[in-house]
Amino acid sequence: MELRLAKVFDSLRSARAQAGAPLCAYVYDLAALRRHAAKLAGSLPDGCELFYAIKANSDLPILHTLAPLVAGFEVSSGGELAWVRTNFAEVPVIFSGPGKLDHELREALEQNVDCLHAESLHELQRMADIAARAGRTAPVSLRINLTLDTLAETSLMMGGKPTPFGIPAQQLPECLEWLRARPEIRLRGFHFHLLSHQLDAAAHLQLVAAYLEQARRWCDDHGLDIDHINVGGGIGINYRQPDRQFDWPAFSAGLSALLNERGMPGVAVRFEFGRYMTAACGYYAMQVIDIKRSHGKTFVVGRGGSHHFRTPYAQGHSHPFHVLPVDEWPYSFARPYAEDETVSVVGQLCTPKDVLAFDAQVESVRCNDVLVFPYAGAYAWHISHHDFLRHPHPAQWYLPVE
Ligand SMILES: Cc1ncc(COP(=O)(O)O)c(C=O)c1O
Repeated sequence: MELRLAKVFDSLRSARAQAGAPLCAYVYDLAALRRHAAKLAGSLPDGCELFYAIKANSDLPILHTLAPLVAGFEVSSGGELAWVRTNFAEVPVIFSGPGKLDHELREALEQNVDCLHAESLHELQRMADIAARAGRTAPVSLRINLTLDTLAETSLMMGGKPTPFGIPAQQLPECLEWLRARPEIRLRGFHFHLLSHQLDAAAHLQLVAAYLEQARRWCDDHGLDIDHINVGGGIGINYRQPDRQFDWPAFSAGLSALLNERGMPGVAVRFEFGRYMTAACGYYAMQVIDIKRSHGKTFVVGRGGSHHFRTPYAQGHSHPFHVLPVDEWPYSFARPYAEDETVSVVGQLCTPKDVLAFDAQVESVRCNDVLVFPYAGAYAWHISHHDFLRHPHPAQWYLPVE
């Protein structure tokens, strides 16, 4: 068994031995997170900056692990901004997201954010008025919704077609014209985030190349002097085929070649990864309460469910899992089990949508065993509807950085 998983199993075994009820927990491996983030940051070419989009997982131990390794944090609400600033006075922060409120924009200026990402001309106009009233200059990047002939769609598109995100590229000349008379906005660059769930390294490289090419053309056409291009996040996790993940070495090597050939001197390339940064450090564990057969299908009912771990339902996939065998059996009757068959793993909610895995082949799973779902460190606990049915929240712990 892989060393990382063995460590998680060990910690679950000891927690289970002490738990008075079936176990349900999130376990985060901070050492693995540190290694992964250091590898990503260390293999990006010179002139690149790696930010972390904290919406994926904003827990403090995660942020403390990442803070020394990344260029800063990307936040998408006043709440995230306050959370970061309360805990990290000095870390550079960039602020994205649609529907920013005036008081959030004011706070962003007061908190010296590194850059605000404008999502519309109206938002840009509000930024300018707020900055003027505060007697400040607002550092701004324009988030642009580009359409590209070569765009290969993923299952989660934020742009490249009509969406609420960013300024449609056709409106850029109007924005730039308007900006000429507003010195309280310092235009620092362009921001692009057209998609998430990208699994194809070559396609992602092509997308980044298209962003850079487009930004260069705008700079030439409009005489702009920018200092960075933010190429967003978007690298995905292959939940369906976990042994076929995004080819990071190919991407970083291709990026080096791209920047050598076509990089803009003095213009940094910023990334803001969410899922790809933290998904792999997290595990969701649920102990099996019941195994039942209904109309030809086998259902494994675990303690917990999509109110804790909404990722599979949100993304429409069957989440992979491991079985941690627990030999103890406290009852006088035979233990329900499933062997060499396909099962659905469901939770405790009174809805047929509470499904974490389906058509999943298992060698053996028994009541009281623990199911361990990997890749549960991003958009997992933080996107789940925790209080539906008022079940208790799962335990959460962090395996320490050695
Ligand atoms: C503007 C922006 N940047 C970055 C991210 C992070 O994306 P991902 O988790 O796919 O890397 C998101 C996610 O929604 C986003 O909206």
